[in-house]
Amino acid sequence: ANYWLVVPAAGIGQRMGAERPKQYLEIGARSILDITLSRLLDHAPFAGCMVALHARDRWWPDCHSARDARIQTCTGGGERAESVLSALRALAGQAAASDWVLVHDAARPCVHREDLRRLMDTLADHPVGGLLAAPVADTLKQAAVTDHLPEVEVTVDRSRLWRALTPQMFRLGALTRALEDHLAAGRAITDEASAMELSGYRPVLVEGRPDNIKITVPSDLALAEFILGRL
Ligand code: C5P
Repeated sequence: ANYWLVVPAAGIGQRMGAERPKQYLEIGARSILDITLSRLLDHAPFAGCMVALHARDRWWPDCHSARDARIQTCTGGGERAESVLSALRALAGQAAASDWVLVHDAARPCVHREDLRRLMDTLADHPVGGLLAAPVADTLKQAAVTDHLPEVEVTVDRSRLWRALTPQMFRLGALTRALEDHLAAGRAITDEASAMELSGYRPVLVEGRPDNIKITVPSDLALAEFILGRL
């Protein structure tokens, strides 16, 4: 089976409060999207890559990656899952249903080569696929419903809880069907694994580095720069 890379980059990055979407903010004169794409494409043998862009994207043509012959683009949607589905549909004519697709957030530039390799090696012969994930480190509190300040109802047992990271790796055909079914039914899908779970699959958790952060708020930018400097 071939491996394809899908990068949803159609978000507007509202929580960053920046003048442009977060995937186009720069670290050391390169956009986050450029860093993410080159780290992935330099470290794994992908048959091709599909990047989902916002319909009114103005920044992609300025990326180095825009001139990379391995990369194609398509128009994303209003939700992350819709952007991913649009990219999968754009790949359908070139890829087989049994091919692997690795979906990776544009906003995770610190992805590490060894994590990518471990994900691909661990799942190579698996029928379903899975995702990079990190065990939860903090003590978790469940809040009671109150009118005032949130109060602790219970401390949640974290021993079986993981944070979902990306890449997430599934077969093109099964993932396309899962996203189509659950988007059509209006179900909440926050990552590829959740769509597969709703279809009755049990994605494998492959332990990844906790510093594979998703840039979300302004302080994440300095953190990502620090992490990238040490990788
Ligand atoms: O907003 P969030 O951090 O969850 O976005 C994760 C990734 O999904 C980002 O790379 C973002 O560009 C992408 N995304 C997308 N289409 C959307 C929303 C988010 O491709 N409608």
